[in-house]
Amino acid sequence: MNDKLGNWKRTHRCGELAAQQIGEEVCVMGWVQRRRDHGGLIFIDLRDRDGIIQLALDPDRDPAAHSKAEQVRNEFVLAARGKVSPRPEGTVNPKMKTGEVEIEISELLILNRSETPPFMIDEYSDVAENIRLKYRYLDLRRPALQNNLLMRHQVAKTVRNYLDGQGFIEVETPVLTKSTPEGARDYLVPSRVNPGNFFALPQSPQLFKQLLMVSGYDRYFQIVKCFRDEDLRADRQPEFTQIDCEMSFVNRDDVMTIMEGMVASIFEATLGVELSLPMARLSYAEAMDRYGVDNPDLRFDLELVTITELVANSEFKVFASVAKDGGLVKALNAKGCAGFSRKELDDLTEFVKIYGAKGLAWVKVTEEGWQSPIAKFFSAAELDSLNAKLNAEVGDLLLFVADKSSITNEALGRLRGHLGQKLGLAKKDVYKFVWITDFPLLEWDGEERRHVAVHHPFTAPLEEDIELLDSEPGKARAQAYDLVLNGSEVGGGSIRIHDQAVQSRMFELLGIDEAEAREKFGFLLDALSFGAPPHGGIAFGLDRLMMILAGADSIRDVIAFPKTQKATCLLSEAPNEVSEKQLQELAIRLRKAPK
Ligand code: AMO
Ligand code: AMP
Repeated sequence: MNDKLGNWKRTHRCGELAAQQIGEEVCVMGWVQRRRDHGGLIFIDLRDRDGIIQLALDPDRDPAAHSKAEQVRNEFVLAARGKVSPRPEGTVNPKMKTGEVEIEISELLILNRSETPPFMIDEYSDVAENIRLKYRYLDLRRPALQNNLLMRHQVAKTVRNYLDGQGFIEVETPVLTKSTPEGARDYLVPSRVNPGNFFALPQSPQLFKQLLMVSGYDRYFQIVKCFRDEDLRADRQPEFTQIDCEMSFVNRDDVMTIMEGMVASIFEATLGVELSLPMARLSYAEAMDRYGVDNPDLRFDLELVTITELVANSEFKVFASVAKDGGLVKALNAKGCAGFSRKELDDLTEFVKIYGAKGLAWVKVTEEGWQSPIAKFFSAAELDSLNAKLNAEVGDLLLFVADKSSITNEALGRLRGHLGQKLGLAKKDVYKFVWITDFPLLEWDGEERRHVAVHHPFTAPLEEDIELLDSEPGKARAQAYDLVLNGSEVGGGSIRIHDQAVQSRMFELLGIDEAEAREKFGFLLDALSFGAPPHGGIAFGLDRLMMILAGADSIRDVIAFPKTQKATCLLSEAPNEVSEKQLQELAIRLRKAPK
């Protein structure tokens, strides 16, 4: 038995100690942050989850403890006993939680030694992320990450309490299952006992939570892992966590109201921030019109302005021809940015090109009028109407994109977000929520030459748009809603189709024929025919929410063991090759030898 602790019993966490404990005999355990040898006196900063406490070792008080302290190196694990005392005059550290006190050590125990760590375990050192991920267990010792995970725990706890209070029950759904169409590629798992057959890891528990409504559970939730094999970005992981909810006998407003309460309780519990409810709402059409994207950052204005008609007859062919061809010309007024350099303007132009724009026309508004390569193309009347429409004043920078509407909106909408960051308008401690509603039900996939569901195929159309399903399906709107926080889609859901006939019609519109629908979703269609209640729900991206709550720049900083952009785990080195025997058992032969 490993009895190193013997009769040592911890009395306090390191970070707990303060003036209150002065005079008390305490015992702490933790890791050595650093050791300072003052020729005689040795000071050790001992760290645990709660913080850091200074240990003082005086050779006169206990020579044995002092000589042990001489062997101590960073990240050794220690147990220490002694008396809490005020720090000597002039050595108080107001930056530390425990900065008023230290422990005068009478006994020291080295519980374990440590190799020299590959990086300093502190908040300050800037370590390459691949090293951090390889030694994630050391990285996770850093206070910033510990705080993020503690906060994540607090969020999960708050969510469970809140939802329990609202009558939700937590039910687990299978991980080895069948494909759920959320729009990404599936992760597949071969079945040994059914050679040639595969499970899909769930992209979400969507179908199961609907089945639970059919089964009469009324209100379900789950804090659940979802798996999507998609191209990764700063706010995407191949496995991520949803706060997944479903409710019976509700409409959109019911779902939104209950979820606003949940989000408010999270902000209250973690940041002490009181959100003002109800949250703002914008229709998809209005969001696209004013912000160019369906996840607008409302921390700042910088709205897009449509000017297609004002420039349709201008001499500037780029704008005029886009207007004639049914495209869209939009502009935004970057207030006070007329001082941007040539280089800055070129960078903005390169930025919009990422989103398919062919160029970015710019105008600096000066005392003398428009300073711009395109100024000469506009008549005095056109200049007047553009200035008025854009509320242009001396010192402003006007930026224009002309293209088909999807490109104009996306390019200028993203540029808006980019400028918000660049100009410091997107403050980290401001929280602007907005529900986006009335999404289109379907969108045309040019490559596949068929409609695809904007949300997922189980989303109900707006009641008043059901007739459009037969005449103009592309125009039908959905009973779907996304919650956007500071430009990030943190949640999304919908009222579902609970009528088997409507669901079959929906599959038909999506080009899924009856045989395919039966093969993929037969169990859902059957269930809908056995008395499915009206129901709807939502799922929040817990990781994305955590990023914003913790003020993190990367989703990896709020996940204990995240994957890289290339969907690998540098710590465990997954994914990895498997043995020939395993492949044989699975009846799998690789087409290409692994690299
Ligand atoms: P949706 O696909 O919109 O809806 O997902 C819900 C929320 O999950 C988050 N999210 C992600 N977070 C991190 N990494 C990812 N790869 C990732 N993908 C999605 C987003 C998103 O808003 N079944 C439906 C919900 C419903 O209809 O009830 C669904 O999964 O924050
Ligand atoms: P050009 O006449 O091609 O030299 O373009 C003049 C200005 O218009 C340049 O600043 C281009 O970046 C810009 N521009 C070109 N195409 C577009 C477009 N589709 N939308 C907005 N600006 C454009």
